[in-house]
Amino acid sequence: NTGTTAAQRAAHSRTTAITNIATLVTNDPSLGEGPLGLIQDAAVVFDGDRVAWVGTTSKAPATDSHVDAGGRAGIPGFVDSHSHLVFGGDRTAEFNARMSGRAYSAGGIRTTVAATRAATDEQLHANVATYLTEALRQGTTTLETKSGYGLTVEDEARALRIAAAHTDEVTFLGAHIVSPDYADDPAGYVDLVTGPMLDACAPHARWIDVFCEQGAFDGDQARAILTAGKAKGLLPRVHANQLHHGPGVQIAVELDAASADHCTHLDAADIDALANSATVATLLPGAEFSTRAQWPDARPLLDAGATVALSTDCNPGSSFTSSMPFCIALAVRDMKMTPDEAVWAATAGGAAALRRTDVGRLAPGARADLALLDAPSHVHLAYRPGVPLVSDVWHRGVRV
Ligand code: NIG
Ligand code: FE
Repeated sequence: NTGTTAAQRAAHSRTTAITNIATLVTNDPSLGEGPLGLIQDAAVVFDGDRVAWVGTTSKAPATDSHVDAGGRAGIPGFVDSHSHLVFGGDRTAEFNARMSGRAYSAGGIRTTVAATRAATDEQLHANVATYLTEALRQGTTTLETKSGYGLTVEDEARALRIAAAHTDEVTFLGAHIVSPDYADDPAGYVDLVTGPMLDACAPHARWIDVFCEQGAFDGDQARAILTAGKAKGLLPRVHANQLHHGPGVQIAVELDAASADHCTHLDAADIDALANSATVATLLPGAEFSTRAQWPDARPLLDAGATVALSTDCNPGSSFTSSMPFCIALAVRDMKMTPDEAVWAATAGGAAALRRTDVGRLAPGARADLALLDAPSHVHLAYRPGVPLVSDVWHRGVRV
């Protein structure tokens, strides 16, 4: 999302047809079959950075240029609505200890806070660019990312400025844990987050988030932080019910948060609240994979009618993967989602979690974000786990 080159601008003034797509996921039921709006032997036409036309190859209009997909499958670019890419260092030792039986705890965040504070701006920019490129190669064309490893006014504002240089979807997570500098004064830290830190950070972010969890922020603190953010024009999203059952999901729904993320420990009232709200339940299976924790169960959420998204949660502590295909495979294998539901959740679901209608679908007017798969259908994303099936990606109409 940094500047465009002259070549990219020239490409934007031209139409391109991608034809001979064996199975295309449009996520527009008016364009094709079922909730995924599937079209067989499909073609897509881009005009600059927008989708101009979608249909069958035999009916595709003439265009300036043409790419033959050769019977590969096509999907909208993935929308990864939850990541933590502004960090320094890594936590290999902690991961190793966990895989030898140690439990995950939010306390590990402090290791990354120290490494992030010590990193230069250049190192942090390079880190974000590395993981963004890694994600793009795996089909992610929209990515949200957060602060949360600075935890001072200056370090949080710096993280958000760095994030905003790489993506439009930037979230202020000063309330990740109580800063180690305020270990004896958590109330003072909440005052800092809702006061001077929010003032410095709000201009650089679209969203505000809080980790509502034992050992992080309780329900009253979470509500105060999100309410203060809303008063400054930020939109809420919540790290909710990850490690234990707690009030996070109910607070997310009460404050009309776009998303309640993790949703691993839910009771019937939480499922009911999500199903009767516009708050998306974002499931992050990379975290349960990398912490050997209990899987979130998508089935009761989907059966109750809640909107479910899948995201990576990419961060050096609990989920160091940038791969949406990996998350789809986990969700299908271990969270009782069908391949169709998981692919929808990783595209249209992520868009809903970011309150976006221009991404996560391939219909006229949508952003020209498409991934082709070395496979005849999107089902292979779950059927062939670990295989790098994403072969070509268009982002804003530009082949990357
Ligand atoms: O979403 N839950 C809180 N935050 C991250 C973990 C961050 C870390 O361990 O560094 C998460 O899993
Ligand atoms: Fe997270």
